Parts: sequence; C-alpha cells; structure tokens
Amino acid sequence: MSTDRDTVRSYDAVAAEYAGETAAMPEWVATEIDAFVTELGGSGRVLEIGSGGGRDALELEKRGISVRRTDISKGFVELLRESGFEADLLDPLTEDLADPQRPGTPYDGIWACACLIHVAREDFGTVLGRLAEATRPGGRLHASVREGDGEDVSTHGSAAAPRRYVETYWRESALRSALTDAGWIVSEVRRCIGKPDDRWLSVRARRA
Ligand SMILES: C[S@@+](CC[C@H](N)C(=O)[O-])C[C@H]1O[C@@H](n2cnc3c(N)ncnc32)[C@H](O)[C@@H]1O
Repeated sequence: MSTDRDTVRSYDAVAAEYAGETAAMPEWVATEIDAFVTELGGSGRVLEIGSGGGRDALELEKRGISVRRTDISKGFVELLRESGFEADLLDPLTEDLADPQRPGTPYDGIWACACLIHVAREDFGTVLGRLAEATRPGGRLHASVREGDGEDVSTHGSAAAPRRYVETYWRESALRSALTDAGWIVSEVRRCIGKPDDRWLSVRARRA
C-alpha cells in the first residue's frame, strides 16, 4: 500500500477550517499530554506526526517539551508556518524522520494523536517501526487510533470540491501486537471517548 493522497488533499483543502474546529483541547487528549509529559520528566525533544492545527504542540511546549511539528499535509504545514512556527512536510511511511536540529540524536518521544488512523493496515507496522527507530531506547510514544473493525471512507464536500478520508480501525489485541512487533513496549491502551460515537484507543508505550 501507500499513502492515500485523496485523504491528504482533503486535509489540504480544509486545513484552516479544521484547525479552528479542533482548537479546543479534548479532555482525553489533555489527560494523555499530562501522562506523556510526566513520563518524559518534563523535558525532551519530541517528533510530532500529524500536527494538524498545532493544538497539542503548543501545550507540550508550555509543559517544557521541545516539539518538531510535522504533517503530511502541505495545508497544515503552511498554516503552522504562517502562524510563526517551524513545521516540516513529512510522510512517516517513506521519509527520513531524523531530527534536522539534532543530527544523529534520536528523539525522546513521539506524539501521534489521531493521525495514524489514516495509515493503511498493511503499512501500520512499517510506520510504527520507523517511529521506533527514530526514538532512543526508553523514549515514549503516544498514538491514538479509532476503535473498530475494518476500514471506512468518509466523503464530504461538494462535487466541485470533494473531500475523501480513508480511515483504518483497530481492536486492542491487534494494536498491541503491531506495537510490540515494531519495537514498542506497551504500558497501557486506554479507551477514550471524544464526541459521541468517537471511540479512540489511546496508546502509552516506550521504546524497547
Ligand atoms: C484527524 S487529524 C488530527 C490532527 C491533530 N493531530 C489533532 O489531533 O487535531 C489527522 C492528521 O493526520 C494527518 N495525516 C493524514 N494522512 C496521514 C498519513 N498517511 N500518515 C500520517 N499522518 C496523516 C493529517 O494531515 C492530519 O494532520
């Protein structure tokens, strides 16, 4: 498989609108940020995948963490840059994840909130493995995926400006296996609810 370009184009088209809609911090994400920062001891350098509008990076930085903002969508990267932040266009499936600010030094952690939902099941292990390789032993991971079975394609927008998002759902046992096989030691998989019927599996793990 490969990266679904329609999904990426769909985010490009609505980046500013999406950033506005998701600016408020959901309670479950705030809880995960607390745990992540505590596990890192309140400092460290983190690679964020799928930064989106940048809500989580801001909070992590307030808490003493240095964040490399990245997104696969040019729309989000441009939006973050316009707001005065450094941000890099990055596909975690295929591109070099090394930190340009600290060549040769792995990250202390990876923050991947609500973005690996768009990685195809057959690519998921590759992405998790690449994230593990970029992280120091003992480094921390937060990743969240939607709970459920199979895949779904949601379509929005108009015929002139169609939006199409492909999502892959996970059950806990398969998710745990994929993480372990990729070099992560899972501490916890928590069930979190966003909007009604918005069920997330939220992972706390460390690099083996
Ligand atoms: C639901 S949004 C979440 C954004 C942000 N992390 C948040 O929680 O508000 C999904 C994010 O995943 C990114 N994305 C889309 N396809 C992706 C892929 N194949 N791999 C990694 N990220 C992807 C999108 O550009 C977007 O930033």
